[in-house]
Amino acid sequence: MPKRSQLKKPKWIIVLVSLVCVFLVVGYVYPPRDSTACYIFSSSSCKKISKWLPPPERELSDEEIASRVVTKNLLNTPSIKAKNPKIAFMFLSPGSLAFERLWDKFFQGHEGRFSIHIHVSKVKPVHSSRYFRNREVRSDKVDWGKISMVDAEKRLLANALKDPENQHFVLLSDSCVPLHDFEYVYNYLMYTNVSFIDSFEDPGPHGSGRYSDHMLPEVEKKFFRKGAQWFTMKREHAIIVMADSLYYTKFRDYCRPGMDGRNCYADEHYFPTFFHMFDPTGIANWSVTHVDWSERKWHPKSYGLKDVSYQLIKNISSITESVHETSNKKRITTIKPCMWNGMNRPCYLFARKFLPETLDTMIDLFSSYTTV
Ligand SMILES: *[C@@H]1O[C@H](CO)[C@@H](O)[C@H](O)[C@H]1NC(C)=O
Ligand SMILES: *[C@@H]1O[C@H](CO)[C@@H](O)[C@H](O)[C@H]1NC(C)=O
Ligand SMILES: *[C@@H]1O[C@H](CO)[C@@H](O)[C@H](O)[C@H]1NC(C)=O
Repeated sequence: MPKRSQLKKPKWIIVLVSLVCVFLVVGYVYPPRDSTACYIFSSSSCKKISKWLPPPERELSDEEIASRVVTKNLLNTPSIKAKNPKIAFMFLSPGSLAFERLWDKFFQGHEGRFSIHIHVSKVKPVHSSRYFRNREVRSDKVDWGKISMVDAEKRLLANALKDPENQHFVLLSDSCVPLHDFEYVYNYLMYTNVSFIDSFEDPGPHGSGRYSDHMLPEVEKKFFRKGAQWFTMKREHAIIVMADSLYYTKFRDYCRPGMDGRNCYADEHYFPTFFHMFDPTGIANWSVTHVDWSERKWHPKSYGLKDVSYQLIKNISSITESVHETSNKKRITTIKPCMWNGMNRPCYLFARKFLPETLDTMIDLFSSYTTV
């Protein structure tokens, strides 16, 4: 009799241990998503268990797999070193460029180290600088806030990419002015290891409030980012933009004015979100084009004749921190140092919006503010 009970005990232990094992294996294979498994545990211990179980993997579609593999490979392909590396300056303008004569001064003496590409959406421009003559790309109409804005940016990138010597691509508007001389801008962009794409998380109505669930499953709300449209891009990133149609299509169809009763602007969300998802450490998260939103109006401050001075330009070009403010009631401000290859440096190379009336003053000031 005593022998039998001694045998029984270990059997019970074995059965218990195997039951626990089965339970854990089942829990691992079918991680508790919502409540099913939580009926067994109390909700707090359920949360603890889901924490150490891997998150449920979403099955990617064929298009997503294809897109990810292309993006990853393009990022890992070392760029071909150009013999004569150039920077592509890409201008978005409705017609003539008010600051051509200022840019002419900026480019003078640096022939062969830059290329100019102009997208004109309304009126055929009259050029006052030889550098800008015959540099228009085939253009189309651009509607503010609509996908046609992104299309114009892609058209400029495609044309600028045709020149294999172009290594970095800058998007500028007709109201932009340079804050430094060419040499400074060239070195800043040519020797950076990131693209200057503005990207931050804004939980407010002008940020994630514009997100639509129609973007699922490819674009989840937690990845949705906002940023100013004025970017600079490394060649690898420009090529990735050319290769993407999946995410572009999502933003074209579901991030537009009037979507689900809200206004979403693709030019402020597509690149900030796309690059945040696929190369977060490859972008700076701020734009090198300064703009003053401090008046908190629908449009940023425009600088007129009474505003421009040597001191204004010096003030803007000495800023070394980037500031982001959320659009919710809390208005949370995030301030980060502008890091250039690991060093804290001035954030801005260009500034907008300057009114055409400031042209002559800006030309006069250019030589003084660009000499240190
Ligand atoms: C930009 O932000 C992302 C995530 O928000 C971060 O991982 C990345 O390091 C940032 N980029 C730089 C250059 O700091
Ligand atoms: C430049 O910055 C200084 C210090 O912040 C400020 O007092 C001054 O008003 C600014 N000047 C211009 C023209 O913006
Ligand atoms: C860029 O350079 C900085 C400083 O050397 C380094 O910390 C960072 O990882 C680099 N980023 C990339 C994308 O290579």
